[in-house]
Amino acid sequence: SSMHTELEKLLDTTTGAEREVSKKDFEGFKNLFHRFLQVKGPSVEWIKIQRPPEDSIQPYDKIAARGLPDNVADSLNKLVVVKLNGGLGTSMGCKGPKSLISVRNENTFLDLTVQQIEHLNKTYNTDVPLVLMNSFNTDEDTKKILQKYTHHRVKIHTFNQSRYPRINKESLLPVATSLTMTGQNTEGWYPPGHGDIYASFYNSGLLDQLIAQGKEYIFVSNIDNLGATVDLHILHHLVSQPNGKRCEFVMEVTDKTRADVKGGTLIQYEGKLRLLEIAQVPKAHVDEFKSVSKFKIFNTNNLWISLAAIKRLQEQKAMDMEIIVNPKTLDGGQNVVQLETAVGAAIKCFDNALGINVPRSRFLPVKTTSDLLLVMSNLYSLEAGSLTMSPKREFPTTPHVKLGSSFTKVQEYLTRFESIPDMLELDHLTVSGDVTFGKNVSLKGTVIIIANHGDRIDIPAGSMLENKIVSGNLRI
Ligand code: UTP
Repeated sequence: SSMHTELEKLLDTTTGAEREVSKKDFEGFKNLFHRFLQVKGPSVEWIKIQRPPEDSIQPYDKIAARGLPDNVADSLNKLVVVKLNGGLGTSMGCKGPKSLISVRNENTFLDLTVQQIEHLNKTYNTDVPLVLMNSFNTDEDTKKILQKYTHHRVKIHTFNQSRYPRINKESLLPVATSLTMTGQNTEGWYPPGHGDIYASFYNSGLLDQLIAQGKEYIFVSNIDNLGATVDLHILHHLVSQPNGKRCEFVMEVTDKTRADVKGGTLIQYEGKLRLLEIAQVPKAHVDEFKSVSKFKIFNTNNLWISLAAIKRLQEQKAMDMEIIVNPKTLDGGQNVVQLETAVGAAIKCFDNALGINVPRSRFLPVKTTSDLLLVMSNLYSLEAGSLTMSPKREFPTTPHVKLGSSFTKVQEYLTRFESIPDMLELDHLTVSGDVTFGKNVSLKGTVIIIANHGDRIDIPAGSMLENKIVSGNLRI
């Protein structure tokens, strides 16, 4: 109840519309906080975890083999594309929304998304809208940019996710002293994870509006996943299920490699499909969780969800997601926690949920500048907003790229490449220290470039490096 008093105090720091929005946010927060206080111990009992039944995770090929009907447009007109756009580009050293970072030929994540959907709408003469879930961190900048798409053939809607108070790790009281987002107060607030989508989509009224327009499914994905395009086969599978067996939730999963051992996986638990995240795994079982042989697949966060089901679960207050406790240290050194939820964790609440094991190409996230280098290179070609791997690459695997800390920030990374090297035959690239690349460099096999502290290595224009180690003062 001291939390209650603190929240009341915060509400009194503002009036009008802002107060009303915050009131709603605080209702959601109180709920989450209350649940957080009640949680004792891990959210799963390890011995109750079962392998998902055979037919609950279907191979994509099996879904696609059924082919497409003539009336693809009818299915598309039941679809809404939703992109999770609450996040910032901080991990790549950018200040604004991550979706506004240029990833390919000056196109941002958002540009590519708009191009993809516009292409669909033109090809099939349909009306698939784009919905962006913004956060208080991204809303203003995103809306400014949206004006440039006014004449594109895609209707764009936005809604805002909630804004919750960060709480002190010891006292569990809010760290902010006012609702205004200036000065030290900006650090007092956070968007509570993408699991917030259900409540904020419902509360915004947009969910009802789309249902009234005859929309049935949303395809939700991370805006930074360039492989998350609308898949007509999955869509067709969903809309053609017989009534009464309607699949309300599809999670696209893909085979785990050693690089993605931390991704959430699907398990069978108490008779339902459930997402198991590493944070829920008891310490003694973490290695088991990471093993590629026992838990073979992971969540791509490409999700297909029934709008009517979201509405029903929200109204029954039956949407249930495990709480993720995310510890942070503020600039001033204060230790805080933020309570979050993940969108995929709600899978257990939906009827006839299904996993579809999709090709790796549907999971192409850009989390770091190393990822960015790959998608900017000639390994991919761009067509109607979609990236596809170049047929000129002999093996359909992507090279392992590890760029050092001088490449972390997009700005600095860009200055270090006069042009993006030819990477068609590259397997492995490690770069560390003060390194620059001239125009038209070609990288093949395994290439390691290490500039020692105080040194600089400039790879001359036109060089071809094949299975080469370049280090120290060595010049090529
Ligand atoms: P994350 O930053 O959570 O990336 O954002 P991640 O860690 O790879 O993903 P998860 O959480 O393990 O699935 C994933 C997407 O979710 C959006 C981001 O903008 C990004 O598109 N996001 C994240 C929100 O929209 N709101 C949030 O509160 C958090």
